[in-house]
Formats: sequence, C-alpha cells, structure tokens
Amino acid sequence: MKDLLVDCDPGHDDAMALLLALASDRVALEAVTTVAGNQTIEKTTRNACRVLTLADRTDVPVARGMGAPLVRDQVTAGWVHGESGLDGADLPEPETEPIERHAVETIAQTAAESGALHIAPVGPLTNVAVALRKHPDIVEDIERIVLMGGTTEDGNITPAAEFNVFADPEAAKVVFEADVDVTMVGLNVTREARLDRDHVARIREMESAITTVVADLLTYFLDVYETSFEWDGVPIHDACAVAEIVEPGVLDTEHTFATVETKGDLTYGRTVADVRGVSDDWPNVEAPNANVAVDIDRDRFVEMLLDAFETYR
Ligand code: BDR
Ligand code: CA
Repeated sequence: MKDLLVDCDPGHDDAMALLLALASDRVALEAVTTVAGNQTIEKTTRNACRVLTLADRTDVPVARGMGAPLVRDQVTAGWVHGESGLDGADLPEPETEPIERHAVETIAQTAAESGALHIAPVGPLTNVAVALRKHPDIVEDIERIVLMGGTTEDGNITPAAEFNVFADPEAAKVVFEADVDVTMVGLNVTREARLDRDHVARIREMESAITTVVADLLTYFLDVYETSFEWDGVPIHDACAVAEIVEPGVLDTEHTFATVETKGDLTYGRTVADVRGVSDDWPNVEAPNANVAVDIDRDRFVEMLLDAFETYR
C-alpha cells in the first residue's frame, strides 16, 4: 500500500479524484489537505468534508490550508464548479470537521510519518510550495509528487496558462524546481481523459446513494463543458494524477526540463516543458527535473473510474 495525501480544491474533478483514491486497495489515503482555488478556502474545505462524508470515510483527516496565493491576486473558478464549488448534486452536510493542524504542517507531518509519501496536488500549489520551503527536509520523505496542472499546449484560463498553475504561479515554480520526483499531468493529457453521457448513464444505473450523487455531479460538469466550451464529454482532470499513483504507467511521461513562467505579461503562469528535447541547459534547473505526461491510456483510465464507482454501489 502506498501512502497518499491529496491536496485539493473540490471541485467536481477533485471529488472524483478523492473517490478514486478511497476506492483503491493500492493506496492508503492518509490525509486530505485543502487549498483555495476553484472556490474560497471555506468552500473547498467544506466540500472536502462533504465528499468524505458521502463516501463514509470521515476517518480520513481533512486539514485546511492556504486561503490565498503567495503573490498574485486570488482567482476562483465559480463559472466551472458553481457557487458552492460542487454545484449540481445533493451532497450530505459534513459529518467531519477540519483538524486543528494547518495543511502545510499536515503535509510535513504526514511525510515524516510515512517516510515515502505520494502527494497528488490537484489544485493551486500554494500548500505544497510552503511545505517544501518551510520544511525543506521533507523531500527525503516524499516518494513522488504527481500534480494536475499546467499544459504543453494552450491553457484554459488564459491562452498560455492552465488554471491550477495560473492561480499561484510562484508556488508552482517552487514545486517544479524542488529536489523531488515531480510528474506534471497537464491539460494536454487530461483533455483526453473524458467521460461522456453514456459513461454517466452507466454510473446512474449503479443506483446507490453515492453513485447517484456522482452521476449528478458529472452531469453538471458535462453541461458546463458542453455549453461553455462546446466539448463532447468532460475531462476528469484531477483523477488522472491519482490514477497514475494507483497504477503507474497509465500515463506516458517524458523526463525533461519543466518549470513555470512567472514574469511574462501574456504568459504569466505558463508551464514551459521541453518535451521535444530542444534544450540541454535551463536557467534555475540543473538537469532534467520533471516527468511530463504526454499521453494517457484513456480506456484504462475510464475503466479505473467506473470500477471505483462500482465499489460504492
Ligand atoms: C484544474 O482546474 C480546476 O478547475 C480543476 O479542478 C482542475 O484541478 C483544471 O485546469
Ligand atoms: Ca482541482
């Protein structure tokens, strides 16, 4: 069993990432830490507690984290995830509360207790960056970070940037440049990781209280992607990061240079990754420093999600 900590801003796809982790017998979800992103920290923390209540897993501690990015002004994504951050379904009222300990300290302590912690950051990288800066020794106790963020192509909040990285570019840069095994799962890959209406119909047919909420959340999320972005099917971005930890190899990756632009007017928050190997020398980065996802086994990913939801029948 791998020890896993999910740092998140639920968020529809964050909720799916949590449910995937909780359903797996290959990972032990040691803690959930929350960050401001898709919605305010109050809302994302409440949503994390509601998802754990839904899954009947209030034994997993939730630690509230940073409520604002390190440098930039706050951006949220209510137009995608709604006013609550998890619009479209009747989630239960939370039957668990955040623990006293801050998310940053929870990341450090969970890593120290594990000695080989896997971290899936699936929101802005504020908590993880502060943990790495405040407790630099935790790199010894982190086995792997698989983050959902960035892209090798066009962005989704500006033409250049993906939301999680744009929401805190300085924090993302710290994480990319840390001396840890970092894998970036960006939009270039998560855009392929879609569920469509037939998949959601199959989930609805599972007919349990939990899978009905999942189907309602996914229907809301599908509607947003169809009306706002004219997409057929909805990408379950954040679950891709957890899927790679549960089953390494579901992603294809390139080991290369990758970091974040924090100075450009038009390119603020853009991830720059040398997936074509055109450079062997980068500022601030001594050697290839990241694994950048370039492809996903979409059929296997969808199967993993559907199998996970089956466990909640
Ligand atoms: C990312 O942004 C958020 O809205 C999603 O939860 C995901 O983490 C995709 O760009
Ligand atoms: Ca997210």
